[in-house]
Amino acid sequence: MAETPPAIRTFGRIRSRPIKRRQAELLDSLAPKIATPTTPFDPRALAPSAKAVWLEIGFGGGEHLAAQAARRPDVLFLGAEPFVNGVASALRHIDELALDNVRLHAGDARDLMALLPAGSLDRLFLLFPDPWPKRRHHKRRLVGPDFIEEAARILERGARLRFATDWADYADWTLERFLRSAAFDWTAQVADDWRRAPPDHVATRYEEKRLGDCAPVWLEFERR
Ligand SMILES: C[S@@+](CC[C@H](N)C(=O)[O-])C[C@H]1O[C@@H](n2cnc3c(N)ncnc32)[C@H](O)[C@@H]1O
Repeated sequence: MAETPPAIRTFGRIRSRPIKRRQAELLDSLAPKIATPTTPFDPRALAPSAKAVWLEIGFGGGEHLAAQAARRPDVLFLGAEPFVNGVASALRHIDELALDNVRLHAGDARDLMALLPAGSLDRLFLLFPDPWPKRRHHKRRLVGPDFIEEAARILERGARLRFATDWADYADWTLERFLRSAAFDWTAQVADDWRRAPPDHVATRYEEKRLGDCAPVWLEFERR
């Protein structure tokens, strides 16, 4: 029987500096309590009173995730991030803000997505994903036909997916691939829609470093 090849790794390091004591404690105590299930599950069942379920893929240090979750206590937030220092930092934000509407997957978002039922998400954020600017690394970019198909499967009709990057080539790459998909419509009406951060955006330290080769580009797609 043919085996499915392992997914190409889309992230860089999963650990950097030593983790501070408080964050290490939270990795031991809080992380297991708010971890997403490891077998197929319906996120709506995790918080039956939540009005919606939103997912952030690659939340980095968790600043955006935590700020959005604090603003919207009526929404259940799922977050996926394999970078342990990022998860530890997100736990600190979750703890400080006493958030009870966040569940985290400390790993590859694609593993989490595979566990979710069709149409179970109302919003998805993919903000400043690893750009893999060298041509030979393009295959590591998270956005590709498989990702778009899986995002389409788990997003409810009318749900929005927000993508941002400050690498011109990754913006073109993503737009091209989403425009090719029959499952999504690009919502932009005027140039400012891709040139300006949406009003509900919360900037992160990573984003403010402006490591890319262009001003941030904002792409918002709606599930058909
Ligand atoms: C460039 S950083 C940006 C972090 C954050 N979104 C921000 O804007 O501050 C990209 C992040 O995506 C994460 N990442 C890459 N591939 C991923 C995957 N398959 N699943 C989840 N996270 C991923 C990386 O570990 C990294 O922390």
